[in-house]
Order: sequence, then C-alpha cells, then structure tokens
Amino acid sequence: MDAITVKNLTKKFDDLIAVNDISFTVKEGEIFGLLGPNGAGKTTIIKMLATMLKKTSGVARVLDWDVGKNPDEVRRSIGIVFQDPSLDDQLTGKENLDFHARMYGVRKKIRKERIEQVLNLVDLFGKKDILVNNYSGGMRRRLEIARGLMHYPRVLFLDEPTLGLDTQTRRAIWEHIIKLNHEEKITVILTTHYMDEADFLCNRVAIIDEGKILVVESPENLKNMMGEDIISIGVSDGEAFSKKLSSLNWIQGVSHGDGIINLSVKRGEEKIPLLINFAQKENLAVQFVSLHKPTLEDVFIDFTGRNIREENGSTKTLIRDMIRARTRK
Ligand SMILES: Nc1ncnc2c1ncn2[C@@H]1O[C@H](COP(=O)(O)OP(=O)(O)OP(=O)(O)O)[C@@H](O)[C@H]1O
Ligand SMILES: [Mg+2]
Repeated sequence: MDAITVKNLTKKFDDLIAVNDISFTVKEGEIFGLLGPNGAGKTTIIKMLATMLKKTSGVARVLDWDVGKNPDEVRRSIGIVFQDPSLDDQLTGKENLDFHARMYGVRKKIRKERIEQVLNLVDLFGKKDILVNNYSGGMRRRLEIARGLMHYPRVLFLDEPTLGLDTQTRRAIWEHIIKLNHEEKITVILTTHYMDEADFLCNRVAIIDEGKILVVESPENLKNMMGEDIISIGVSDGEAFSKKLSSLNWIQGVSHGDGIINLSVKRGEEKIPLLINFAQKENLAVQFVSLHKPTLEDVFIDFTGRNIREENGSTKTLIRDMIRARTRK
C-alpha cells in the first residue's frame, strides 16, 4: 500500500493557484521531500494531506483513507510538526507530551511508557522536567518531533524541520529523523528549501515551484541527470593550455573565461592529478584547481532556471551556464 496518493490535487486561494494539479505517491517507509522556494506551495500541500485545509479539486489519500471522506482516520494515522513553533513554553517537555497524548486519547499506562520512548528517541529524556521556556531551538524542535510521534502515527509530516537552526543542530535533527524512520518504521514527508537537507535525508524528492511539481526522483538520479563533474583550473598560459587539452580524449568539454578553464569530465577527482602532470610536462605552472560535482542546487537551477535563494556568484553563474549549455546539446 502507498502511504500517500496525490492525484491532480489543486488548491486555489481566490485567484491564486497555490497548488496546481500535482500528482505523486509516497511508498510506506520512505523519507520523501517536497523541495521548493518560499511560496512554492509546500505547506499548503502538507495542510491538505493533514486535513487542515480543504482541497479545491483532485484526490489526496493517506494510507487507506481519503482526506475528504475519512478525516478522522487520516488524523489518527499521522503526526505533524508545524513550520511555526507550537509548544507550550510554560509546561515542561514531559507535560507537553502528556497533554498531546491525552488529546489523542492515549491510555495512561501506555502514555507513560510512550513518553519515555519518544523522549529517548530524540535524546531529551534527561531534560524532561525542564520548562520548555528554557529549551534551546534545537531541543524545542526535537520535542516537537517527539510529540508528533506520541500516538504511534504511521506517517509523519515535518514542515521545514530545521528552519532557522545552526548547522550542528540541523545535523543532529537529521540523525534523529533517520533513526525514527528506521526504528519506528514510519513514513516521513518533509518540506524543505535546503538542498543539502533534501540530499541527505530523502529517498525521493519532488521539486516544486509556483505550485507545480517539476520532477520526482531520488537525489542520486537527479544529480546524475546533470552529467559530468566540472574541473576549474588556472595555469600560467591558459590560452596555450586549452589548445593542448584537445589531445586528451577523456575531456568532454572545455570553456575558457575570466582566466579560468572549465573542463567537464567523468570522475573528476581521478582526473585532477592527470591534469597537473599534463600541465607540468608542458612547462606550465598550475595556479589553482577546483572540482565541482553536480549538486541538487544545480538540478534545481536546471529545472527552474534560477537559484533557490535567487543569488548569483560569478563562478556559480559560469558553471550554471556551462551545465545549461551542455544539457541543451
Ligand atoms: N490561507 C491563505 N490564503 C491566501 N493565500 C495563501 C494562504 N496560504 C498560503 N497562501 C499562498 O499560497 C502560496 C503557497 O504558500 P505556502 O505557504 O504553501 O508556500 P511554502 O512553499 O510553504 O512557502 P515557505 O517556504 O515560505 O513556507 C503562497 O503564495 C501563499 O501566499
Ligand atoms: Mg511553508
């Protein structure tokens, strides 16, 4: 059985089409990512699946249940961690969980046991009696995840699970998400606009822009679509060097600009020493060399025509233009 089935799902807010005729399925046990920039429609999709928002048209199912026809069954099957903080600051960690469990009608004996279990899962057992007011940002996020798990949901929605957290805390949250996916056998649907997060966590990713799904694939396959690695190299006489490079048959493409020679090659890390040797034999001094492997960022740019944060670095732009030129061939 699929954990999530979405067919031709649309949500309109008056004239604005926030979610535009999207379809995808999520298999049980998967970590599935909705990746897109601000306003792409990610939260709106999650809210419709979680029965918090009525769809305009289309089909949305969670496990066996239709979100429109069986909202109670859907709610019992899912846990949700909202984009905006939603803990009670004046209660302890444990009290927050207890309150949530009571709302879901989890029985007293199970409640105690389950609170301990979920707190251990996110490494917060030792902090259970501290007021949430005194928790750090990362601890709050972990407690919210624990709370989402209290009633043994089979599907967990995480809306921007690491938004605003520092790098180390984000890493720790990622480890917890992977652990609960393994240990609780729970399907995870998360939204993010962080490329590295989608890449690290997700079995498959749907790239979303302006309410449309552009592609659904594994991060690995998406990156492979981008083709070769790019080596950027600077040598004492770039002009002479680029001409000589035509004798190397493992180079797929060469471009030259701003004193940098960009080469597209397969398995770039193995080609760097060969290039350095080659330059030395030609009596040319290598000034710098760097390797760029395709990232989800490149994939995003390729599908949407822009950076997810709409910023442009000069090398990045150069590389992006190369990738575009190559995929147009
Ligand atoms: N209740 C609402 N009424 C009107 N417009 C809405 C409503 N909720 C969302 N929208 C609009 O729908 C679009 C999608 O919003 P949504 O919150 O789903 O995006 P998102 O991908 O979650 O963005 P972010 O990364 O900023 O969280 C936006 O243009 C937003 O302004
Ligand atoms: Mg959102």
